[in-house]
Amino acid sequence: MSHAAYVFDAYGTLFDVHAAVRRHAGDVGPNYQAFSEMWRAKQLEYSWTRALMGAYADFWQLTEQALDYTFKRVGGVDPALRQKLLDAYWKLDCYPEVPAVLKALRSRGAHIAILSNGSPSMLASAVKNAALDTVIDDIFSVDALKTYKTAPSVYDLVTTHYRLYPNVVSFQSSNRWDIAGATKFGFRTVWINRANMPDEYFDLGPSLILPSLESL
Ligand code: LAC
Repeated sequence: MSHAAYVFDAYGTLFDVHAAVRRHAGDVGPNYQAFSEMWRAKQLEYSWTRALMGAYADFWQLTEQALDYTFKRVGGVDPALRQKLLDAYWKLDCYPEVPAVLKALRSRGAHIAILSNGSPSMLASAVKNAALDTVIDDIFSVDALKTYKTAPSVYDLVTTHYRLYPNVVSFQSSNRWDIAGATKFGFRTVWINRANMPDEYFDLGPSLILPSLESL
């Protein structure tokens, strides 16, 4: 089934959020996985609380604040690694199948876009670093609205820009909570369940569940 636009979440879906810590796993030490999980969990928590409060700070600031908290919470990691980890987050690896999948979808004539909590500059850097700039038509950042997913206005950035009904947009995310928000908005949704997580938000389920973007 073909859609007019294929829209992708960025962090966790196209870009591996754990690649930054993994790149420095030797220096971070044996707790590197717990460290990376905490960093991600806090970054997301800050986005949800700030959206509810109406106290927007951009996603790069939240990424820094979440990292600083993680140093204090997960012990035994040298705070001198701060800049190295942030630099690595600025240039995250994309998942191996991403370039070919986006290219194939684009060759069928669909719009290919990112819709992300990321700030415009961090998204531009990640896209450029992964050499995805030639296969992505548009990057939509919540920064235009100063709020975060799962606010419906965020998903509406795409439909307003392309003048499309939500049900002709296929939205892909590895974040189940993001899939819930996009489903509520009316997108056709594909949950990329990379980590084989149990399902949740049962009243807001995806149209399709895939282990990676491969068979999209
Ligand atoms: C994003 C977050 C949810 O890219 O990972 O929007």
